[in-house]
Amino acid sequence: MNEQIQNIENQLSSYEFKASEDIEKFRIQFLGSKGLIKGLYALLRDVPNDKKKSSGQLINALKQKAESMLDAAKKNQTTSSSKKTHEDLTKPAPEVKLGSHHPLSIIRREIVDVFRKIGFSISEGPEIEDDWHNFSALNFPPEHPARDMQDTFFIEKGANEIALRTHTSSVQVRVMEGSTPPIRTISPGRVYRNEAISARAHCFFHQIEGLYIDEDVSFADLKQTLLFFAQEVFGSKAKIRLRPSYFPFTEPSAEVDVSCTICNSKGCNVCKYTGWLEILGCGMVDPNVLEASGIDSKKYSGFAFGMGVERIAQLKFKVNDLRMYSENDLRFLNQFKSTL
Ligand code: DAH
Repeated sequence: MNEQIQNIENQLSSYEFKASEDIEKFRIQFLGSKGLIKGLYALLRDVPNDKKKSSGQLINALKQKAESMLDAAKKNQTTSSSKKTHEDLTKPAPEVKLGSHHPLSIIRREIVDVFRKIGFSISEGPEIEDDWHNFSALNFPPEHPARDMQDTFFIEKGANEIALRTHTSSVQVRVMEGSTPPIRTISPGRVYRNEAISARAHCFFHQIEGLYIDEDVSFADLKQTLLFFAQEVFGSKAKIRLRPSYFPFTEPSAEVDVSCTICNSKGCNVCKYTGWLEILGCGMVDPNVLEASGIDSKKYSGFAFGMGVERIAQLKFKVNDLRMYSENDLRFLNQFKSTL
């Protein structure tokens, strides 16, 4: 008896399910009413009484093994047949959901391309910056309010101050320290300020810094470069005007307005009925800044400018609430698909 059980056990162990028909064949061969295991139960009658119990247990175990093999084979078949339906080559392909570029990336790229056309390279610097690059080398006096906790996110205070950069002007310093004129570069990047978040202010935003250093660079060069930029971005009819201003790192300094593209300078609520929109700050690099970065201010001069990417995006896309740019709301982002 034991030999017969062992024999069937061997057959079970070596059974391979090759095709789906094998499942039914297996069931009939081992578990059917005329199958091998049923046959063993029939033989049990002739087994001496003292061996009946142990033989019965062996046959039960064999039956369980056959049943679980059958179950496993059935399960396998359903998963592989569902795989098959995916392989139906006549089925339409699943829809591929295309993303869109972020509006700020679209604007950044557009601006970077404008300056690339006139020979500016792209440079980047760290967002975690030391006092020297963010403030001191840029001629910020020690008592300047930007050095206050209220405006700057400090990481380490004290002699070796480390903070999140408050502007991309810090990259100017890094570029000047690492190269010799002529320098023509723009530096796009994220900046941080300790502001309460509202529609008009955010604790982080994006800027693009420009720097041009060479012999005999003049304010006229600055003006012409900015006019070119404004007309490329806002259309060939765009005009600019410069208003005197103050920045520690430029002298003279100016703020630049572009003619309101929304109302054609006729006056609207976006330009507050002035016909002009403020877009950036600029000026001639202060000789102190050149010297701090190791550039001979007697030989070289240059201009710098800095603009907010959100500000330009606001004007181009008419999205006035700054919070929209960082909330990842798909209803907002999907609207920029056509600009891909
Ligand atoms: N860094 C200034 C800011 O964050 C912007 C700026 C103004 C940059 C004048 C410049 C500049 O390079 O010349 O407000």
